[in-house]
Amino acid sequence: MKILITGNMGYIGPWVVRHVRTSFPEATLLGFDMGFFAHCLTNAPILPECRVDMQYFGDVRNFPKHLLTDLDAIVNLAAISNDPMGKAFEDATHEINHRASIELAKNAKEAKVGTFIYASSCSMYGYAEGDAKSEDSPLNPLTAYAKSKVSSEADLRPLADKSFKVTCLRFSTACGMSDRLRLDLVLNDFVAGAVASKKINILSDGSPWRPLINVKDMARAIEWALTRDPTLGGDFLAVNVGSDRWNYQVKELAEAVAKVIPNVEISINKNAPPDKRSYKVNFNLFRKVAPDHQPQYDLITTIEELRDGLLSMKFKDEDYHNSNLMRIKVLTQLRETGFITERLQWVINP
Ligand SMILES: NC(=O)c1ccc[n+]([C@@H]2O[C@H](COP(=O)([O-])OP(=O)(O)OC[C@H]3O[C@@H](n4cnc5c(N)ncnc54)[C@H](O)[C@@H]3O)[C@@H](O)[C@H]2O)c1
Repeated sequence: MKILITGNMGYIGPWVVRHVRTSFPEATLLGFDMGFFAHCLTNAPILPECRVDMQYFGDVRNFPKHLLTDLDAIVNLAAISNDPMGKAFEDATHEINHRASIELAKNAKEAKVGTFIYASSCSMYGYAEGDAKSEDSPLNPLTAYAKSKVSSEADLRPLADKSFKVTCLRFSTACGMSDRLRLDLVLNDFVAGAVASKKINILSDGSPWRPLINVKDMARAIEWALTRDPTLGGDFLAVNVGSDRWNYQVKELAEAVAKVIPNVEISINKNAPPDKRSYKVNFNLFRKVAPDHQPQYDLITTIEELRDGLLSMKFKDEDYHNSNLMRIKVLTQLRETGFITERLQWVINP
């Protein structure tokens, strides 16, 4: 198998590469990334990209078609990957997450690549009261980021057929340690606050529901999607990826962190307006189609790994919300220093 992983130099990518490398030891792996966060390593034992056979630096908006020759599968992770970045760089978010993904899929189909995996997101359920949302529940994307994922799924669907299998993995919110750790994710943020200052600040009233998944379990889902049988699920499949027991309210996450890391003070903003994003998700379909690739991690182990990872980084920065462990800060700084344009293209000789 020859597999291309776009966006492999981010938070999830290093785990995906490691996992795919182990699961398919004979496969040739190509990485393709713009490298926005290449310098944001967190205690990585080696440069994670040493694990691919070939690393390309480039923009998915100008993807060189010759890289598609003899390729069997694409794992498309490249994206502007959260709400704050999507808000700050709305046009680029649409271009990269949606337009470039569809263009890549069309070219891939033409080049006879058989499998296309799209990293989608449960955030497309937006603010959703009542029962846990399943794949056929109405979508309510509230942000540029979530909208880009909805548009991509809609335009990928008609491309799928017997020779072009498309899987959109609607991931829960990621958490866990990585070679490029991010602290702009709810659980990672809470553990960082607990380690650095013994404080967890919940910026809402703590009530929103948020399904979570450990990054390593995301990588296992991608392994499944690479070889899934289309007779179960169809040529096009959009599936929620996570597990029912990981549907938590934000305040429960904070309490779990305080159980693992003693003497931590939790402050809940009781007057905060309700968070706009709150959704419980139903994972029945994922259980049915991927019974052998269900999430294995539990919350406490994930918190312990994050704590240990941060301690081994000698992490003490109480002001980490202004550090390069927040993706929006990295992009804003690249922009302010003139290294990238408003459309998030590298500037040569800034
Ligand atoms: N982290 C989560 O909670 C989560 C949840 C659901 C889905 N996802 C999706 O999973 C994927 C990976 O997420 P992540 O957390 O690793 O994100 P990340 O921001 O850490 O990594 C994304 C990578 O894409 C690259 N990239 C961005 N624009 C590019 C372009 N134009 N050309 C080439 N590369 C480009 C970046 O340099 C970066 O290395 C994204 O598609 C994201 O939307 C993430």
